Amino acid sequence: MLRILTRIVLSGENQRKLKSVAWNKNLCSEASVSADFFLKPIMENQLYRPPPEVRGMTSLDKDAFTQTITVPALRVPTGVLNKVMKSLKKSTIQRPGMPRVIQDKEESSGMRVVLLDPHRVSSPSSFSEAEAEALRAFGVAAELHSHELKLTYENLKCDEVLEAVLPQGQDVTSGFSRVGHIAHMNLRDHQLPFKNLIGQVIMDKNPGVTCVVNKTNIIDSTYRNFKMEVLAGEENMVAKVKENGVTYEFDFSRVYWNPRLSTEHQRVVERVERGDAVFDVFAGVGPFAIPAARLAATVWANDLNPDSYTWLQHNCKLNKMESRTKTFNLDGRAFIRGPLRQELPALLLGEARVHVVMNLPAMALEFLDAFRGLLKTETPCYQNLPTVYCYGFSKDDNPEQDVVDRASRSLGFTLKNNYFVYSVRNVAPNKDMMCVRFTLPKEVLFCSDDELTEPSEEPAPKKQKCEETAQ
Ligand SMILES: C[S@@+](CC[C@H](N)C(=O)[O-])C[C@H]1O[C@@H](n2cnc3c(N)ncnc32)[C@H](O)[C@@H]1O
Repeated sequence: MLRILTRIVLSGENQRKLKSVAWNKNLCSEASVSADFFLKPIMENQLYRPPPEVRGMTSLDKDAFTQTITVPALRVPTGVLNKVMKSLKKSTIQRPGMPRVIQDKEESSGMRVVLLDPHRVSSPSSFSEAEAEALRAFGVAAELHSHELKLTYENLKCDEVLEAVLPQGQDVTSGFSRVGHIAHMNLRDHQLPFKNLIGQVIMDKNPGVTCVVNKTNIIDSTYRNFKMEVLAGEENMVAKVKENGVTYEFDFSRVYWNPRLSTEHQRVVERVERGDAVFDVFAGVGPFAIPAARLAATVWANDLNPDSYTWLQHNCKLNKMESRTKTFNLDGRAFIRGPLRQELPALLLGEARVHVVMNLPAMALEFLDAFRGLLKTETPCYQNLPTVYCYGFSKDDNPEQDVVDRASRSLGFTLKNNYFVYSVRNVAPNKDMMCVRFTLPKEVLFCSDDELTEPSEEPAPKKQKCEETAQ
């Protein structure tokens, strides 16, 4: 019997030896399996666990992860190799960067060595009925061999490396958000001493990631962008992403971008039709505005952050939407009371539907006060009133009621059954991002009393002046 062997250098509990085992599905029972190796299934992660010396490493030394392990193998005639590989798909070794088929030691033998997954195949009887049948049909010798394999850093998964390095018993979350070539992490305190190593491993193990950043907890409350620290890779923060079929480019360190909002962007844009008018009060780099323009809506998009404004204009050009999108660099209230105020009277008389998107969840509900008495000097028109999509965070037990109450307070008008409210996503334990969608009440727009410009801190009053005057 030919033995396929290269020498083993195995440490600790991973030092197991495979012995070739004669196997014939008809003759061979579990009891006839000779090697101890086969009797105990190898626990996942145990065999691939890196050497214990890597624990506590703060600067990545890839060579320290190299070790030799022993895996089961089958010798397969070259002529039936492809068919056998198809039949044994579930049982062959699956490791990053590791071949599943290698040359036989005797090159002229007409055989190849198929490496098997030691967690699945511990004895010949580990094969499923279908696999065993296929092997018989293709005339593959019923023998398992041991094969020594050099397992390197390249063959380990991200979590396997980090679990081996970071302090035992502490959370090893290697999760990140991907924004183009940038992996964006939010490391915990106990992970910080290993931050550069973590960054390097994330980059190595995720094709296409060439820069890893850690979001510090400091958020610029005005522009909603985070302070970031580059942990590994290039310093290039200009990302290119595709969302719902639209391409955006922006400097991720200077503007707001959240890949978790793509569904919400789509949900709102789906309500926009050809010819509609869309006012995006807090537009960012354009993920509501540009798709709406692509649907042949006319768009007015605004952002106070000069960097967002620049990238918004850039993205309009990139997507050939400049002619349908007017861009502004104003405070949200100034935008509502300026460009929006100017366009609205004519739009209310027309056929086009009007949408006002207000995605600044930390503050947008308060900005609704800008609509109070906005058209007080115009002849009241009760048709074609704008639909407002206003976002807000809530930590309340009843977040739906909470955001509706806060919207009502800012408007100076109680939204009753004329709204739709839903949770967009859970941003933290006990904190939801909500959206309240409503038709802007005529009582608010044409209210003659514009003295109440500051949102009240009090709970929603039962009846406010706007309601009383506007019937
Ligand atoms: C949460 S982001 C949303 C951006 C974009 N709409 C999106 O969905 O990705 C809010 C945006 O509002 C902008 N912003 C913050 N304060 C503002 C203000 N007072 N007036 C106008 N824009 C403001 C920020 O610069 C940021 O781009």
